[in-house]
Amino acid sequence: MASSFLSLLLKAAILGAVLLLPRLLWNYLTSPIKDIPGPFLAKFTNFWRLYSHWARTHIESQRELHEKYGSAVRIGPNCVSISDPSLISKIYSTRGEFVKSDLYRVADAHNDGKLVESIFSTRSNAFHSMYIKPVQKSFAIGSILKMEPLVDSTLESLCEHIEERFIEGANAGTSFDIASWAHLYTWDVISELTFSKKMGFLETGADVEGYIATNKFLMGYFNWVGQLPSLDQWLANNPLLFSPFKYPTFSGIAGICAQRMVERIQNPAQAKHDDFLNLFLQTKTDYPGIVRDEDIVGYLSLNLLGGADTIAIALSALVYHLLRNPAAHIRLVTELTTAGLAFPASYAVTSRLPYLSAVISESIRMHPSIGHILERVVPATGLELRDGRKIAPGTIVGMNPWIVARSTEVYGEDVDTFRPERWLQGEGESVEVYEARVTKMRNTEFAFGAGRRVCTGKPIAMVELHKAVATLFGRFEIELDDPKTQWELTKGWFVFPTKIMVKVRKAKGRT
Ligand code: HEM
Repeated sequence: MASSFLSLLLKAAILGAVLLLPRLLWNYLTSPIKDIPGPFLAKFTNFWRLYSHWARTHIESQRELHEKYGSAVRIGPNCVSISDPSLISKIYSTRGEFVKSDLYRVADAHNDGKLVESIFSTRSNAFHSMYIKPVQKSFAIGSILKMEPLVDSTLESLCEHIEERFIEGANAGTSFDIASWAHLYTWDVISELTFSKKMGFLETGADVEGYIATNKFLMGYFNWVGQLPSLDQWLANNPLLFSPFKYPTFSGIAGICAQRMVERIQNPAQAKHDDFLNLFLQTKTDYPGIVRDEDIVGYLSLNLLGGADTIAIALSALVYHLLRNPAAHIRLVTELTTAGLAFPASYAVTSRLPYLSAVISESIRMHPSIGHILERVVPATGLELRDGRKIAPGTIVGMNPWIVARSTEVYGEDVDTFRPERWLQGEGESVEVYEARVTKMRNTEFAFGAGRRVCTGKPIAMVELHKAVATLFGRFEIELDDPKTQWELTKGWFVFPTKIMVKVRKAKGRT
């Protein structure tokens, strides 16, 4: 019985392959991008790239492929990875002619069996304009600086927890994973900025309600299912799946956002300063008929989903690179000590510290939080590469921030070295040469994306990073527990570092 079923299955598979082959061959022969080189299998099927994302080797394989084939590599029958930074302003223009691809469909929210677009996931410029406009000024640096006391209170809490748990009394000298604590910290900061209420990550020293783990799982899912978005209908978006086969969704986060919104409407005095919830609620009055309660829940959810892990990754990577580069570490600590910073350090002062800013720029270059191609669709006008080759309309193209950040043409041969000095004027370098060099590097910065769909949260990230790095390295002496041990990286849409084990002491002169 079993053997006849297996033989039936085998025959069905062979028949399927025989029927599919001519179609694959036809697609290959008629493809308008068949001259773009790439792995053999990728010319026929998206399973090639699905596998490399599923195996989490996509960053390495894209890098190797670009080294082998040049600035354009075909990584799917209709998908081309681009590494030429001079095309950033074209593909990611402020006009947005290259819209997001169907990859982003996998990031739509699920609501009562329906898919709901967000300002992050939408593929439509009209939708994006309509919903970004009401909240744009909430993300401007001026708004964020009004909320700075909310960052301060969380930073104070982080320092207190580090002291109590790892420095004082019987715990002195206990090593801990600073990447985990960076996560607990950034989730509490973003919830404080968003609803004037920490979610309790620092207080409990744990992943409250498993939000961090769920987000990590979902970002991993987005990473590989996005290579073949139709798979989503069979997996997370499949109404027939039931527990334990049901995929987790972002509904837990949306639920807490809805709850906070209702609490605030009932008790407006809960807000400390003008937090995001207040600013978003105001958009209902300012944009009547456009912003509804469910849109506010969407905005709030995006704050938590986009604004915690990203900054935790950036902060952890910075600590790791700095601790592995003693000269840079010493230079930063000297700058911070000389500046005589208040506790917690203010953004106004820290943003003017040149070495600190160089360390942040270099760390974001070495380790962009997102390690995935930001896919776009070539419009009717096509895309012309620098060497004159043309990419046909309808092709999915895009760049991976990790590949762009390793451009030797822009950053020099030492792209794999953490060297904050590259952002500063070199000895004997004229002002003109330095400015031209830095402008080229700044124009290539892609860790926050670029153009119309650039990250709205960049000012928050900059404020948080300057303040946290200055406060941590100003207040504590930090060292790797074992300098010979490497961190671990989990590569998906995000590139999560873990196991950055450190020991911390109070810096001399600090009480
Ligand atoms: C180090 C920190 C961060 C990094 C590296 C980062 C990176 C990015 C990147 C690369 C994109 C573009 C994605 C694409 O084109 O597919 C993006 C978009 C976005 N980010 Fe961030 N992000 C960070 C922090 C934040 C924060 C703090 C928030 C909000 C609180 C945020 C909210 C968003 C939103 C809403 C979008 C969609 C923007 C749009 O399409 O208009 N991000 N981010």
